Amino acid sequence: MGKRNQYREMKRQLREWVEDEEWLIKEEYIKDPLYYSCVKDIFENKAFQSMNQFIQHGSTTTRAHCIQVSYLAYRLALRFNLNFREAARGGLLHDLFLYDWHTHAKETGNRFHGFTHPRAALKNAEKEFQLTDREKNIILRHMWPLTPIPPQYAEGFLVVYADKYCGTAEVFLEWKKKLAMRFLVRQV
Ligand SMILES: [Fe+2]
Ligand SMILES: [Fe+2]
Repeated sequence: MGKRNQYREMKRQLREWVEDEEWLIKEEYIKDPLYYSCVKDIFENKAFQSMNQFIQHGSTTTRAHCIQVSYLAYRLALRFNLNFREAARGGLLHDLFLYDWHTHAKETGNRFHGFTHPRAALKNAEKEFQLTDREKNIILRHMWPLTPIPPQYAEGFLVVYADKYCGTAEVFLEWKKKLAMRFLVRQV
């Protein structure tokens, strides 16, 4: 297979994986022992679990979004021989801001969630876990280029990529569902 086809195939697999809601429901990530050994303490943490009550995009919870970002960043880090443990942990904690961002502006007057939530996530993560410098930087810089300072480490760029990829896929998946629903309703 040529390089271009390999890349296309990788993209296709990635899209399929992100859209596969069963992957999360069946907790497939637990079946990867290396991944799970890196993040077990985070999964067992109450603050992390509480992200299940907040919606990130479409019908995806913030917890589910963080798991997908973390696992994608971890797999990419393994592939590129980078620090997969810190990529996995930073990815899992990158959106630990712990509020519903859809109603946040109305409730608090803060209209700049996109810019301020990395710092809120870092503050919460530091309360719960002993973080490495790389993990702190991954969380704090994950909104680049919306926030002007880029990540300091390669693992941070993997989380930036995984975050944008998963976020976009979540929105598209929701559109797809809505279009399918509209089509079905028309058929009735
Ligand atoms: Fe974020
Ligand atoms: Fe995110």
